[in-house]
Amino acid sequence: MRSLRMGLACLAAGLIASGAARAATDGTAPDLKSLGPTQPAKLQDGQYTDKNGDPTYHVTDGGKKVDWYTMSGYVRYNSNCIVCHGPDGMGSTYAPSLVDSLKTMDYAHFAGIVLGGKKDVSASQELVMPAFGDNRNVTCYLPDIYTYLRARAEGALGRNRPPKHEPKPAAFTKAEDACMK
Ligand code: HEC
Repeated sequence: MRSLRMGLACLAAGLIASGAARAATDGTAPDLKSLGPTQPAKLQDGQYTDKNGDPTYHVTDGGKKVDWYTMSGYVRYNSNCIVCHGPDGMGSTYAPSLVDSLKTMDYAHFAGIVLGGKKDVSASQELVMPAFGDNRNVTCYLPDIYTYLRARAEGALGRNRPPKHEPKPAAFTKAEDACMK
């Protein structure tokens, strides 16, 4: 699993201290304001995190533009999860709506379920969430999938493919290559 890169960036620390939504004044510090209730506290290598260090989205342009991780998460969701959880995370007759689940689920809890699986033994129909712990098409993109579903759950992002996205960070490509090797 690609770890969240949590190095201490002076720039990001400064942004937290001065309020995440404050606009850039010198053209180098990014404006972290996002649609939706969770405002990013930090941006590093194209990845936004909240004040708890959990991955979060950066949706701008009236919901039309997303950060790279949200875009990547959309793509990965559609290849690995959609078959059971339905289009746009909306759920199906077999598996729950992740748009609902992610309203209250932090990253650690989410990662635990996706890597380890989940089985509802009490249901009349046996419901099984498969464990993806050894599937690198999922484990290498776990923050991405979480970020995408979080944007959906918190109402920052509508249905369908986001039309625009922020550029792919060089650090993303590097981490992806290392993880998929
Ligand atoms: C083969 C069908 C299937 C696939 C594929 C699948 N899931 Fe699930 N998932 C389920 C079922 C069924 C449950 C409900 C299990 C239960 O209630 O115990 C579930 C539950 C979950 C939950 C917990 C929801 C909650 O509210 O507790 C999360 C999170 C989740 N899935 C994420 C994912 C992600 C992310 C992917 C893609 C990487 C994925 N699932 C792929 C069937 C699937």
